[in-house]
Amino acid sequence: MVSVANDETFTPPADSVLWNKDFLIGAATAAYQIEGAIHEDGRLPSIWDIFSATPGKTLAGDTGEFACDHYHRWPEDVELLASLNVGAYRLSISWPRVMTIDGQPNEQGIAFYRKLLTALRAKGLKTYVTLYHWDLPQHLEDKGGWVNRDTAYRFAEYADMISRKLAGLVDAWATLNEPWCSAMHGYGTGHHAPGKKDVVFATQAMHHLLLGHGLAVRHLRANDPQAQVGIVANVGRGTSTDSSAAGQRAAWLFELQHNNWILDPLLKKSYPSALWELWPGAEPTILAGDMDIIGTPLDFLGINYYFRTNVVSDGKHGYTEVDLEGVERTQMGWEVYPEGLRHLLVGFHRDYPNLPPIYITENGMATDDAVVDGEVNDQQRISFLNRHLAAVDAAVKAGVDVRGYFIWSLMDNFEWAFGYERRFGIIHVDYATQKRTLKRSAKLVTEFLAQRAAQ
Ligand code: FCB
Repeated sequence: MVSVANDETFTPPADSVLWNKDFLIGAATAAYQIEGAIHEDGRLPSIWDIFSATPGKTLAGDTGEFACDHYHRWPEDVELLASLNVGAYRLSISWPRVMTIDGQPNEQGIAFYRKLLTALRAKGLKTYVTLYHWDLPQHLEDKGGWVNRDTAYRFAEYADMISRKLAGLVDAWATLNEPWCSAMHGYGTGHHAPGKKDVVFATQAMHHLLLGHGLAVRHLRANDPQAQVGIVANVGRGTSTDSSAAGQRAAWLFELQHNNWILDPLLKKSYPSALWELWPGAEPTILAGDMDIIGTPLDFLGINYYFRTNVVSDGKHGYTEVDLEGVERTQMGWEVYPEGLRHLLVGFHRDYPNLPPIYITENGMATDDAVVDGEVNDQQRISFLNRHLAAVDAAVKAGVDVRGYFIWSLMDNFEWAFGYERRFGIIHVDYATQKRTLKRSAKLVTEFLAQRAAQ
């Protein structure tokens, strides 16, 4: 166990990009993780309702049925958010809330997001809206979900409809959140909804997710020309303690599989061919013109970064993960490794000449937080934020165009397969009472942003 000092402050060095008022600092959430109200106002079932209600799929059997009750408590949450002095809020829209089974707009669901976005704008907050943060309508999964090419076209219809309805209220649209997790955990490992387990499904799902993204970009641009349009990818740092060629290849393959699998099609219009050595026979069906659609230029790329993975060769074509000992870890068991963020950003800047401006759309950590005498002293998170923001600053100084940073998350919420036990928020949520309590991290970020605004 690595200990963290008990007196962490949040004061970036004077030459840090964080002091630049144009460098956006925000907080992020996602619909299914906070909204609850899964049966209200015509919302349809999503794959996460079904998956999380299936015994054995989530820790303690937790589901998103109530979550943070944000669907009802959003005015309080907007007030809290605004009180933090942040410049932006990243949220997602629940597809099954805003579209009926026959593809028509569900006006009641849409009204919720219109009220929310209007309130955020009224507080001077920039709105970063993700269209798909994993909550596929179950009726589309019943027809094959993302393994079925038709889902890409249904996603484009949804993007078209919702961007007409909410045009003018959104600063930046992101089509997908972390297509890697949707494809791999949803259809490959089965850790996430819909819980399928076949790498052939995963690669085909990835292709259809990216196709849906490319088709959606065109609608977003046409319907809301003032807004920025992009996508959010999770990226991972892979290293190996084995310095042999086999060990180094394992680390390279890890990053290829996690990062280049998504970034190459988006920025080079092709999948890395080594993927099909890693997964023989798993090459997806690609139709003529698909890669041009997928490679439609982006206004920004959202990067979600959490940890490093240590790997060794599996002695065949792939790699095996081996946990390092004696390193600092989070409540998720993830290694705290800020250097990985700098390293990856600098690498993307070097490898993709057409890399769009970057926002860190998620970074943060889970801690086992409790309210003691009205306070939550989340020292490890403060230290984590300090170190990762320093890594972002180092990347900016190395020439990478990073424009902002969103803390994951605004508040504790439903952490997917890990339910409510894992607490990622800078605001603590007592799920029994739905009381929100600012953690010390939230208070320090607020103070810093007030100082920044005053200079
Ligand atoms: C990311 C997800 C986000 C949250 C964090 C911890 O993969 O996008 O919803 O669960 O991990």
